[in-house]
Amino acid sequence: MTFPDWGRFYGFTKESPPWPLLIRAAALASNGGQALDLGAGAGRDTRYLLEQGFQVTAVDAEPHAVALLATLPPDHLQVVQSSFADFPFAFATYDLINAQFSLPFMPRDRFTTVFVRLKAALARGGVFAGQFFGVHDEYNNTERVMTFLTRAEAEDLLSDLEVIEFAEEDADGHKADGSPKHWHVFHILARRPSA
Ligand SMILES: C[S@@+](CC[C@H](N)C(=O)[O-])C[C@H]1O[C@@H](n2cnc3c(N)ncnc32)[C@H](O)[C@@H]1O
Repeated sequence: MTFPDWGRFYGFTKESPPWPLLIRAAALASNGGQALDLGAGAGRDTRYLLEQGFQVTAVDAEPHAVALLATLPPDHLQVVQSSFADFPFAFATYDLINAQFSLPFMPRDRFTTVFVRLKAALARGGVFAGQFFGVHDEYNNTERVMTFLTRAEAEDLLSDLEVIEFAEEDADGHKADGSPKHWHVFHILARRPSA
C-alpha cells in the first residue's frame, strides 16, 4: 500500500459528518459568502458548507476526490483539481478557508509559501480553520515528505491573524480506518483582522 492511500481514506470518510472545527468556523463567517475547502477529500465539509449557503470552491489534487466532489449538488460549487502549490489563490476573496488535515501533506519547502498565499486570500474578517502537524506526530519520519512544525513555528505562521482557537493535541489516537496512531496536531481557528 502506498502512503497515503487516499482512496481507502475516502471510503471511510465519504459519509462522515463535517468536522466540528469547520462547523464552528462556518458559524463565524457570513452565510452566503465565499468558502474555499482545501484538500476537500470525499467532501464531508464541502457538503456542509453548501448546506449552509456558502459558494464553495473545493480543491484537491486527487482525481478520485474530484470525482466524489463532483457528485455533490453542483449549484454554488466549483471543484478544482489542483495541488495547493499550483492553485491560483485570489487575493482577499474568501470569507472562510477550510483545510482539515490537508496542509501538512505538503513538503516543507512549499508549506510556508502556500500558507502565506492562503492568508492573503482571506477577505478582511475572513476565517481560517485547519490543522498543522507537530514534530511528535507518528508520521514524522524520513520516509514521509510532509511538514511538521514546533509550537513556536506554528504560532509564528499565525502571528498576523487573530487567533480564536489554538489547541495542541499530542496523544495516542486512531486513524480513519480505526488503526492506532500518535497524533501531534495544532487545531487552528483564526481570523484575518478587519482593519
Ligand atoms: C487527510 S485527507 C483530508 C480530507 C478532508 N479534508 C477530510 O477531512 O476528510 C487530505 C486531502 O488533502 C489532499 N491533498 C494532500 N496534499 C495535497 C496537495 N499538496 N494539494 C492538493 N491536495 C492535497 C489529499 O488528496 C486528500 O484528499
